[in-house]
Amino acid sequence: MSPDKETYEAIERTSVDELKALQRSRLQWSLKHAYNNVPHYKKAFDAVGAHPNDLRELEDLSRFPFLVKQDFRDQYPFGLLAVPREQAVRLHASSGTTGKPTVVAYTRSDIDVWAELMARSIFAGGGRPGDLVHIAYGYGLFTGGLGAHYGAERLGCTVVPMSGGQTEKQVQLIRDLEPRVIMVTPSYMLAIAEEFARQGVDPTSCALRIGIFGAEPWTNAMRTEIESRMGIDAVDIYGLSEVMGPGVAMECVSTKDGPVIWEDHFYPEIIDPDTGRVLPDGEEGELVLTSLTKEALPVIRYRTRDRTRLLPPTARTMRRMARISGRTDDMMIIRGVNVFPTQIEELILKQALLAPHYHLEIFRDGHLDSLTVNVELQAGVEDHQARRDGVAGELVQSIKSYIGVTTSVIVHPARSLERSMGKAKRVSDRRRPS
Ligand code: DLL
Repeated sequence: MSPDKETYEAIERTSVDELKALQRSRLQWSLKHAYNNVPHYKKAFDAVGAHPNDLRELEDLSRFPFLVKQDFRDQYPFGLLAVPREQAVRLHASSGTTGKPTVVAYTRSDIDVWAELMARSIFAGGGRPGDLVHIAYGYGLFTGGLGAHYGAERLGCTVVPMSGGQTEKQVQLIRDLEPRVIMVTPSYMLAIAEEFARQGVDPTSCALRIGIFGAEPWTNAMRTEIESRMGIDAVDIYGLSEVMGPGVAMECVSTKDGPVIWEDHFYPEIIDPDTGRVLPDGEEGELVLTSLTKEALPVIRYRTRDRTRLLPPTARTMRRMARISGRTDDMMIIRGVNVFPTQIEELILKQALLAPHYHLEIFRDGHLDSLTVNVELQAGVEDHQARRDGVAGELVQSIKSYIGVTTSVIVHPARSLERSMGKAKRVSDRRRPS
């Protein structure tokens, strides 16, 4: 592979027909593998009268039942495994907000495919063999750190396995080791950028050129903010533990037009979350993913709860997904209006006097829910009551006119909201005891 090549693997540029043929045969394998080796799938397929042999065309997949998060809980810890546990070389787990964690497992070949897909992703994001890659995703049960790590090594990069936290040290290592690529959540990138400022160092003067950001929803407005603060190209990486981890989809730096789904390994569908009906490409709904090659933990029609649209191919033969607008779980219904945190984020970032940090709180106000938007002043902006009132008033007004809800806005002093060191918690629900 030569570093100036546009794609990492030939499959990324194959014809649509070839891709579909590959997907069909892999899908037939994956359905059989799940049906023959996981009692849950056998029962669920039999219950709706769907047999793996019935799948002739990709569209036939819609006859098969969905897999949901609750199935992972019900089958905790190893009930969904399609291989004996001894054949798994690695486990990861995602900590749900309530109840048991979701445990996922990988065979040696699964880890190999994951490393390959992450190498492909980093390449698409602009990383090249020989680059120094600073990884500030958390290592451990979270898939971010180790997923990025194996991919960067596979691509032939020099990896700094920094993990999350120790923000001062992050900055020191970035200054001293001069990585060209950083992989981190967008919210933690902002905290690192602030630490640069605190140390009196201009982050645009450091060696970083590319940031590979994901694990939480973020907006194009946030992309622009991070790019200008850091002097880098910021690209979007998507994934989830149940389906693999990071590297299910990755945005190409050449187009920056939404993550390309690595369709040779994952078959995407968009459904109407209320009816379960499959929607045509271009329409927004819930992303449903089916693994085509996974051995230890095949997922058939997994409902991700992430809202997006499927977009036509551009830089690669495979389809893209629009930026995730939010998780169905994160949707707030405020006085009858559906609101996602990302919609509020966009409006906050339009206010020049506000820092790109925010926290939302939902309260019960009589019979109705109300939303409080906590924001803070940019560092260096003169802080007085009239200024805070002015900024709050403007934001209330723009949220009202763009989203259609009335909110309370509280403007806090610079650097006072809590910073995330991984996935940011954007919403606190004060209606329930926490
Ligand atoms: O967050 C895997 C990952 C690690 C992806 C590092 C990218 C980078 P989980 O902890 O299982 O796995 O959380 C998965 O995070 O269903 C989305 O709701 C959200 N998410 C992940 N990537 C993005 C993204 C990892 N690029 C859940 N944009 C997913 C928006 C994202 N949301």
